[in-house]
Amino acid sequence: MQSTIDTLTIVRPDDWHLHLRDGAVLNSVVADTARQFGRAIVMPNLRPPVTTIDLAAAYRDRIHSALAQADIEPGSFTPLMTLYLTDNTTAAEVLRAKESGFVHGIKLYPAGATTNSDAGVTDLLGRCAPALEAMQACGMPLLVHGEVTDPAIDLFDREAVFIDRVMIPLRNAFPELKVVFEHLTSSDGVDYVRQAQGPVAATITAHHLLYNRNALFQGGIRPHWYCLPVLKREKHRLALLEAATSGTGRFFLGTDSAPHPKGLKEHACGCAGCYTALHAMELYATAFDSVGKLENLEAFASLNGPAFYGLPVNQGTLTLRRATYQIPAELPMADSTVVPLAAGESLGWTVQQ
Ligand code: NCD
Ligand code: ZN
Repeated sequence: MQSTIDTLTIVRPDDWHLHLRDGAVLNSVVADTARQFGRAIVMPNLRPPVTTIDLAAAYRDRIHSALAQADIEPGSFTPLMTLYLTDNTTAAEVLRAKESGFVHGIKLYPAGATTNSDAGVTDLLGRCAPALEAMQACGMPLLVHGEVTDPAIDLFDREAVFIDRVMIPLRNAFPELKVVFEHLTSSDGVDYVRQAQGPVAATITAHHLLYNRNALFQGGIRPHWYCLPVLKREKHRLALLEAATSGTGRFFLGTDSAPHPKGLKEHACGCAGCYTALHAMELYATAFDSVGKLENLEAFASLNGPAFYGLPVNQGTLTLRRATYQIPAELPMADSTVVPLAAGESLGWTVQQ
């Protein structure tokens, strides 16, 4: 199925779902993203979470300092900030966020769903209606971690159950609210986003396009393939790959690159998150090439996201070449290291520097 394309130049892409962390880790990882992407939606799940416009402004300043320290040319990368929705987020804070011009979404983490989500929402429609109302009115997107946290629900079914229990009631109550179903992982999610009425879109990670849940257990338990929502069956991977490569405007790139120190991944209770910022476009190109759809990579990576968020597309381009890319075993990160996804393996595409 591989195409005969050997070089691909696309409009400079954006990452619509990224974890940059803070402090020394931020300093270590930010250049990896800035090298490939013009902008990134920066997740707010710090400790403490980024719940207010003042916290978001301060975090943005720290990101700018980290970019300067990493010698990234000023203006070549723009962090798009987000707020962390809590039971107490007010309509006034939503309006301040909109007016700021630098906050581009508000993130829903169901309480306890994933890394640093303890401050998340306990009852979305019950507690957050004023904030959601304001978001709908001013056009501020809600970015959704779409998994229920009910321990009675099988981990692999949590996205599908979320659609019925949360997404459908939410969108019935707020039909004009812009919603991004983040890191979609199932055919149920794909079907939902395809047929939904109103302004709904989804991000898809490279790892969910390239791997199914077997990757977690191949030859032994492999913590670097563990993320949330967890990798799923092959039929789900195929549905995601079809959606991402179809050119449809509702699906766009979000790496969910989520660095954790090596020692906390290779641990008795290993953290969720895959580090893909280093080689994001190499991974996505490999996925698109696997189904002969490289011609639709630009829409997915560079055009559909800005259209949904109401932003211009980037200036400049990124060029990928069909050439072997060797994924390093690990990279320095703060006082530890981070292991990139598929460390030690090689890919068939390389970003031209
Ligand atoms: C993310 C993290 O580490 O912050 N982890 C992950 O597995 N994706 C949180 C998240 O996006 O769920
Ligand atoms: Zn994430």
